[in-house]
Amino acid sequence: VTEPDLAGRHVVVSAGGTREPLDPVRFLGNRSSGKQGYALARTAAARGARVTLVSANAGLPDPAGVDVVRVGTAVQLREAVLKAAADADAVVMAAAVADFRPAAYAAGKIKKKDGQEPDPIVLVRNPDILAEISADRTRPGQVIVGFAAETDDVLANGRTKLARKGCDLLVVNEVGERKTFGAEENEAVVLGADGSETPVPHGPKEALADTVWDLVVRRLD
Ligand code: PMT
Repeated sequence: VTEPDLAGRHVVVSAGGTREPLDPVRFLGNRSSGKQGYALARTAAARGARVTLVSANAGLPDPAGVDVVRVGTAVQLREAVLKAAADADAVVMAAAVADFRPAAYAAGKIKKKDGQEPDPIVLVRNPDILAEISADRTRPGQVIVGFAAETDDVLANGRTKLARKGCDLLVVNEVGERKTFGAEENEAVVLGADGSETPVPHGPKEALADTVWDLVVRRLD
């Protein structure tokens, strides 16, 4: 039996991967399936929360009893998260957000020109949504959780990222072409701004999600 320990709370979860368009046909994207974020949304709803799920290109069925807001790019994800976060008790950023987007969007399909090298793709920085919502908390006691997707020096990079982003908790998970992305299972260490470290063994993404909510509930109370 699940305890309704998030009853009366509004939580916001982002999920999936942003796509940054180059032209009407192509985009820069990443391998996130949305499964970890959707597991967070489902488990929060099961624990009684009102849940807003900001979903970037996930292609998964809407979880029952969850408000789903669909977005494509990092800029759209920022807008939707900021709007939903205004009255949220907790925000969990599980989405894989592109750090950069193409500087220019071509209104027509980019063509290859015979005998010519392709033009380089010039990138500009996207806003850092996690850092922004951590710096500008919209209500006292709001708990902000980030994820860190790392391929090497996982924990050391996680600690640095936690300090840089200014969130309360950072879920550090290792990723690779066939690791974590799209999988049913995950394993992680949840780092706390208070110096705590909570290891979560390999298991269903729901189990990691429930551990995240346990740690959030402790900070909300
Ligand atoms: O979707 P799945 O297939 O289930 O895979 C799950 C996952 C690997 C995508 C997920 O567990 C995960 O790690 N999500 C975060 C991916 C990511 O973008 O990590 P990052 O280390 O690049 O970013 C750190 C944090 O800052 C994240 O919370 C991210 O949402 C946030 N961010 C990043 C860039 C940016 N411009 N704005 C942000 O808010």
